[in-house]
Amino acid sequence: MRISLIYAQNEDGAIGLAGPHPLPWHHPEDLERFKKLTMGKGLLMGMNTFDSLPRLLPGRFHFVLTRGKGLPRLGRLASVQFLNSISQAVLAAEELDMEELFVIGGASILNTMLGKADTIYRTMVLNTPLAKGELAKVHMPERGESPQWDKYKCVKTEYVEDRLVFLTYELKHQG
Ligand SMILES: NC(=O)c1ccc[n+]([C@@H]2O[C@H](COP(=O)([O-])OP(=O)(O)OC[C@H]3O[C@@H](n4cnc5c(N)ncnc54)[C@H](OP(=O)(O)O)[C@@H]3O)[C@@H](O)[C@H]2O)c1
Repeated sequence: MRISLIYAQNEDGAIGLAGPHPLPWHHPEDLERFKKLTMGKGLLMGMNTFDSLPRLLPGRFHFVLTRGKGLPRLGRLASVQFLNSISQAVLAAEELDMEELFVIGGASILNTMLGKADTIYRTMVLNTPLAKGELAKVHMPERGESPQWDKYKCVKTEYVEDRLVFLTYELKHQG
């Protein structure tokens, strides 16, 4: 099973607001790209990210990490499984024969999987002021801020005017 990270961040490295909040920007092209890449695949996310979704995402299986809060919801939803750890979630996705598991956030889960994922789909959000800018933000490290980034090479760069950059990275082959 392939494991991929997918996330968007602004020039300050913020991927969003701490807690269950909608994304602090609106870029339909990025949502389209997210939908196209993840359709039919598994999504791994934390409880705050799950609670920030407007609805369950059709055509995708949700693996949701919680150390307690979500567990009482176990078994209630057909396309959702609540799990206690990343390793449990990866195992569960393999058992369901997922072709690819997309790690979609939040920050600590993305960070844990940086260096382990095969592919990273990263969107740079430019020239976009944050909605609710006064709230605490969650960040992903830049290249240079985490040694894990050295394991990747950038294989594709696409621009959407001066607002978005879609970057794709692949894990370098060892040896
Ligand atoms: N820009 C993007 O691409 C992007 C992507 C995703 C999210 N976001 C934004 O990021 C924010 C949410 O991120 P966040 O970092 O605050 O939270 P998060 O990672 O989505 O959720 C944190 C919660 O997930 C559970 N959890 C996390 N790691 C776990 C682990 N290893 N094992 C078991 N449970 C674990 C815990 O839930 P319990 O408290 O239930 O135990 C924890 O409190 C939202 O504002 C969202 O909009 C942005």
